[in-house]
Amino acid sequence: MEQNVFIIGATGKVGRRLISQIFEKEDTSSLRHSHPTTILGLASSTEYLYSGEGIDEKNAILFSKKRIDGKRYSGIEDILKVLRRSSKSISVIDVTASADMLELHRGIIDGTKHKVVTANKAPLAVCDFDTFQTLTSKTQRYGFRCSVMAGAEAVDKLRDLCDLGDTPVRIEGSFSGTLGFITTELQKGKRFSYAVREAARLGYTEPNPASDLDGSDVARKILILSRTAGFRVNLEDVKITPFVPKGYLLESDPEKFLKSMERLDEGFRKRMESALKRGKTLRYVACADASGDQLRIKAGLESVDLMSPLGQLLGTANKIVIITKTYGKGYYSVEAPGAGIDITAQNIRRDLLYQLEERQVAQPEKK
Ligand SMILES: NC(=O)c1ccc[n+]([C@@H]2O[C@H](COP(=O)([O-])OP(=O)(O)OC[C@H]3O[C@@H](n4cnc5c(N)ncnc54)[C@H](OP(=O)(O)O)[C@@H]3O)[C@@H](O)[C@H]2O)c1
Repeated sequence: MEQNVFIIGATGKVGRRLISQIFEKEDTSSLRHSHPTTILGLASSTEYLYSGEGIDEKNAILFSKKRIDGKRYSGIEDILKVLRRSSKSISVIDVTASADMLELHRGIIDGTKHKVVTANKAPLAVCDFDTFQTLTSKTQRYGFRCSVMAGAEAVDKLRDLCDLGDTPVRIEGSFSGTLGFITTELQKGKRFSYAVREAARLGYTEPNPASDLDGSDVARKILILSRTAGFRVNLEDVKITPFVPKGYLLESDPEKFLKSMERLDEGFRKRMESALKRGKTLRYVACADASGDQLRIKAGLESVDLMSPLGQLLGTANKIVIITKTYGKGYYSVEAPGAGIDITAQNIRRDLLYQLEERQVAQPEKK
């Protein structure tokens, strides 16, 4: 029996890579897989392609590159209508960055037999806690591993610990490859403005690096992880201290923004120098702490011991550190290379594997 997928965001960077991986890695092969993947649907923000028999490789790639047109659609309800009409079970993959997708996720989970796999963290951050729990409690039907740390084991680890009764009481981590890269460059003695410019040149930042330095993306990640650990929190509970003073973040022109970072070089140099003298370094740390009377959740630049789990983290790597109640003194940690398009696409395919009811081992690849 095949595993049917409908990819929303098929024309984006992750969507395009996912489609090419599905074909290159022979996920569609019935010789290799007991549940070969069939792409039934693809959508951009305005158009979709759907075939009950499956979309072939040529058309899937052409659609993802916007070289063929699909049918125009005007909103989530149109996609839901297509899904409701399908007699087949479909895993709908959300690789957009749109918060509007919450309506799609809820529509699928509440009103259809279909499933969701999402790399889009926006719906899980904007929804209320109860909706988060309703969606994510359907472990077989709702895959959200790729919404944080590009699908590394963070979500699984937290969920397993909760189910085992070894409740997390503190979660901390560095969840931004971009900000990890910048702090590592500062540690090496590079100027702050150079480090930001270099991160942009290497493609680690959003088109305007201000979007990385405002801390909002990290805030959404710690929120999702905290909620996964069972902490009843909302986005407004996260105290965010942006990497740079807020005034700088208002600049919408990327080049002017990068130029303005030079004014911060001396301040960051002194801050890093002072940290290093004390055996510490700077990291952009997100933390949710439920060990006291009140849950505290925040994200900001902090000095951490050089030998600590986050102090040892280098470059674009991400790490989560989890402290639980039962086995007090130690900690669990999960480290992963910084998110990239390839690893995200691969881990979306991995989330699809988890949705198979009777998964069987794939046959070896043809030589
Ligand atoms: N890039 C990475 O390395 C990376 C790593 C980990 C996770 N992620 C996550 O993966 C997701 C996709 O990232 P990306 O870099 O591929 O983004 P992207 O290149 O901007 O692509 C976004 C895709 O979503 C579609 N889209 C936008 N708004 C939509 C809407 N309202 N309804 C339906 N479709 C809509 C776009 O369609 P149009 O072509 O019509 O605009 C496009 O296909 C994001 O949530 C991101 O956080 C990305």
